[in-house]
Amino acid sequence: MKRFSALVFAFLFLALAPFAQAKTYVNGIDANYPPFSFIDEQGNAAGFDIESMNWIANKMGFEVQHTPINWDGIIPALQAKKIDMICSGMSISEERKQAVNFSEPYYSIKKYIAVKNGSDLTAEEVFKGKYTLGVQRGTNEHELLQSRIDNEKLAITLRLYDSPPMSVEDLLNGRIDAIAIDSAPAEDAIKNGKAIKIVGEYAPGDDFGVAVNKENAELLKLINDGYELLKKDPFWQELHTKYLSN
Ligand code: ARG
Repeated sequence: MKRFSALVFAFLFLALAPFAQAKTYVNGIDANYPPFSFIDEQGNAAGFDIESMNWIANKMGFEVQHTPINWDGIIPALQAKKIDMICSGMSISEERKQAVNFSEPYYSIKKYIAVKNGSDLTAEEVFKGKYTLGVQRGTNEHELLQSRIDNEKLAITLRLYDSPPMSVEDLLNGRIDAIAIDSAPAEDAIKNGKAIKIVGEYAPGDDFGVAVNKENAELLKLINDGYELLKKDPFWQELHTKYLSN
């Protein structure tokens, strides 16, 4: 009898285990967007957004897996359901809202122009002259700048990069005159000893939100409810202290 009930127990366990497992959602990330998402020295996904989403997943009862994807193709990947969300420093924009749904905003950024230390170029001058400006490909700053160039017939040349740290390196090498970069990655580069300085803003700031496939209302609710809890938890302030200067 004992053996029988052990068998029944084992059978029930095996039969029901798949149902008890938490659902796994894939977060598509830019692997080189410190301090929000990056790969650390141990090869693990790390950063403000990674730790936020891990906390939310744990509280809301799902699993999250962080998968690097080219920023340039990240929205198509979400639309094609190759990933379930993008929690990786993505600005909420009207144009993107046509393609995906966004969570409530969780962080505000400014749109900066930065130059190499020692340069006396100002943000206004960059837009007036024949300068080369670096920017990350597929960002809303890329779009903002391209439309300014087209509308105002500016003489600047854009040079496109796969990530902001790569544009910072080229700026330091003197290959470009200035970069357009969001405030948090710029401040992170400066904090890490990169000899660059912020010289002005070129567009109104915007807010980061988590993007979710338009058909996935269930996940969007989990994420919004999760941020509501996280924002009230001391861990939220810890994350700001660890990764951001404010
Ligand atoms: N404001 C930019 C955008 O949303 C930031 C993009 C950079 N974020 C990133 N993970 N690469 O397009």
